[in-house]
Amino acid sequence: MFSGASTFVEGVDTTFGVIMGITLFLLIGISLTIILFMYRYNKRRHPKAVQIKGYPTLELVWTIILLGLVVIIYYYGWTGWVSMRETPDDYIEVTVNASLEDGFSFKYDNDKVSEKLYVPVGKPVKLYLDAEDVIHSLFIPAFRMKEDMNPGLEYGHAWFEATTEGEFDLYGAELYGGVQEAMMLSEVVVMSEEDYSSWYGPVKTTEVDPATRGRRIAERNGCQACHSFDGSMVIGPTFKGIYGQNVTVFTNNVKREIIIDDEYIRHSIYFPDDDIVEGFNKGQMISYENVISEEDVQLIIEFIKSLSE
Ligand code: HEC
Repeated sequence: MFSGASTFVEGVDTTFGVIMGITLFLLIGISLTIILFMYRYNKRRHPKAVQIKGYPTLELVWTIILLGLVVIIYYYGWTGWVSMRETPDDYIEVTVNASLEDGFSFKYDNDKVSEKLYVPVGKPVKLYLDAEDVIHSLFIPAFRMKEDMNPGLEYGHAWFEATTEGEFDLYGAELYGGVQEAMMLSEVVVMSEEDYSSWYGPVKTTEVDPATRGRRIAERNGCQACHSFDGSMVIGPTFKGIYGQNVTVFTNNVKREIIIDDEYIRHSIYFPDDDIVEGFNKGQMISYENVISEEDVQLIIEFIKSLSE
């Protein structure tokens, strides 16, 4: 404990320490009170029991102290969790594949696939989590990182930034994965920037195409559950051929015509309930405001544009 190899270590260990401290404080406090009461109020010393009714100050004091402790735990938990959900910009992407039969495998942007997770030191790594068969859990203890992998949940992700070069255990930790889950052992290999680029090899040029990247971001965020890319109607309007077209929307219940351009798409992704496309329902699409970065939205726009060419 208290040694680790990612930017999460300090936060997680502090939270652990705080909760441990509170627990010890309560354990010792309650135990001492029990012992004290056993001594003071035993039958010899205190033969006649007294019924105490209503003691507002005491009740108020312990309620406020306990509330304070819970708020402290919540504060550490929440701030730590938020930073684990939001990947900083300029990350590298790796798709993690997990199955009971084949264990973990890691797929890189240039289609390279490896059995161990190779990453550069000091750079955010975003993992897209793809479980093939059952629920898995990806655990890297030295990074204080653990994330469930659910089959069918296309936008499952996690990230970390390694701070030390070296090799660290990575394994499956899902109890319900069964005995085979225990056999899902792998490693993270953290390398210097130069070693990583020579291991990684050439960048695949087709990946640089923004429309293709946008398509992948849309797919990973599950847009195709409601928007088809081929003109067919699902729950929402198709993306095919809409760019540059006019669309009738209701804005605050007022009907108006609007042209589908970059700004409209951006606004629709972040504030889907502001303009409701005629013939569709409000409240079905969630806001992706804190989910998809401005940069990625621009790539999705490029993708939607490419479906109109
Ligand atoms: C649960 C279903 C659902 C999901 C998932 C969803 N949307 Fe939507 N979306 C809708 C519906 C319904 C509408 C039409 C009503 C409206 O305008 O809000 C819509 C409208 C839109 C529009 C306006 C389209 C037009 O023709 O004017 C855009 C752009 C859009 N969505 C983008 C996205 C993107 C990008 C994603 C993925 C990150 C996404 N949506 C995920 C249901 C969904």
